[in-house]
Amino acid sequence: MQSMVLVGLMSATFALAGCGSDDGGDDGNNAGDGGSSNGGETGKVGVILPDTESSVRWESADRPALEAAFEEAGVEADIQNAEGDAERMTQIADTMIGDGVTVLAIVNLDSESGAAIQEKAATAGVATIDYDRLTLGGSADYYVSFDNTVVGELQGQGLADCLGEKDANIVYLNGSPTDNNATLFAEGAHSVLDAIDSYKVVGEQAVPDWDNEEAATIFQQLYTAADGKVDGVLAANDGLGGAAIGVLEANGQAGKVPVTGQDATVEGLQNVLAGTQCMTVYKSAKLEAAALAEAAIALATGGEAETTGTTEDAEGGRDVPSILLDPVSITKDNVGDVIADGGQSYADVCSGEYADLCTEAGITE
Ligand code: BGC
Repeated sequence: MQSMVLVGLMSATFALAGCGSDDGGDDGNNAGDGGSSNGGETGKVGVILPDTESSVRWESADRPALEAAFEEAGVEADIQNAEGDAERMTQIADTMIGDGVTVLAIVNLDSESGAAIQEKAATAGVATIDYDRLTLGGSADYYVSFDNTVVGELQGQGLADCLGEKDANIVYLNGSPTDNNATLFAEGAHSVLDAIDSYKVVGEQAVPDWDNEEAATIFQQLYTAADGKVDGVLAANDGLGGAAIGVLEANGQAGKVPVTGQDATVEGLQNVLAGTQCMTVYKSAKLEAAALAEAAIALATGGEAETTGTTEDAEGGRDVPSILLDPVSITKDNVGDVIADGGQSYADVCSGEYADLCTEAGITE
């Protein structure tokens, strides 16, 4: 059932020239039916990832997926990481623009610095793409992401499924206040959980920069303020979820209080298998990277990328052409689907003490 969702998701992948349905390790740049080699026409594409701390996804999932997607498309890409520093991102962008990139894709660290980068790029005639996070008040030509409200809805529904119909005190650990996605995740989760009368919000706080260590401190404070009477935790990603689990563990509550997550990281999937985390959300980096490559090629060659709709940027008063993909809810029952899809490897998830849990969950190498 769940794997059918993933299959459907895979088939919704964007038809890049030469993008086969294999899972990597192919023989390089097979032209496929599109037949267009983009080598010379597209020039170089610059991609700036946000940091290495807010989620392991950026370096462990996005970077390799982006490298593979651009290589597959025969496009030269310069992928860098701003290390959580908006000034650094600005400098990297300046250098990339100076180097003559034709398209610049960023995962902004905040909308203000992102918009300033995009304005400079536009002045230099460089097209821009918002990768994963929408830059409010920005000028990106495309927005490539997942449906982030749905991500929040899946988290809310996942927590409700784990809690069942009982009186429950819920604490929210939201993502960074500077990340528009975090706003959408929280909205989506609230839309599900607020509709259940027996649930009560007993604490809610945004975690600056998605900082996992600060998340532990914040959760400890919320937990203490609630007198330890916490029945469920809506944590916006696996890192924040892990921070909450650590505090629950210290209080003998890990595994008793369901905690959500996002990104289907190795740690998140292992926590799901161990029962300390109730669910995570899988967002295939392979699909997101392929969609970015397609949009970048379209911009560089004067074509148009196939969009799924537009996203309203209320701050900028415009509708941004968007390619939004479908996130997938992951519980113990379908952790194996992430591995089968290449989202994580069996060796990483099922290592050491997790080998038996994988076997129990029917996950094989
Ligand atoms: C991304 C999440 C990620 C978070 C922290 C969000 O914008 O959509 O996947 O966990 O940032 O990096």
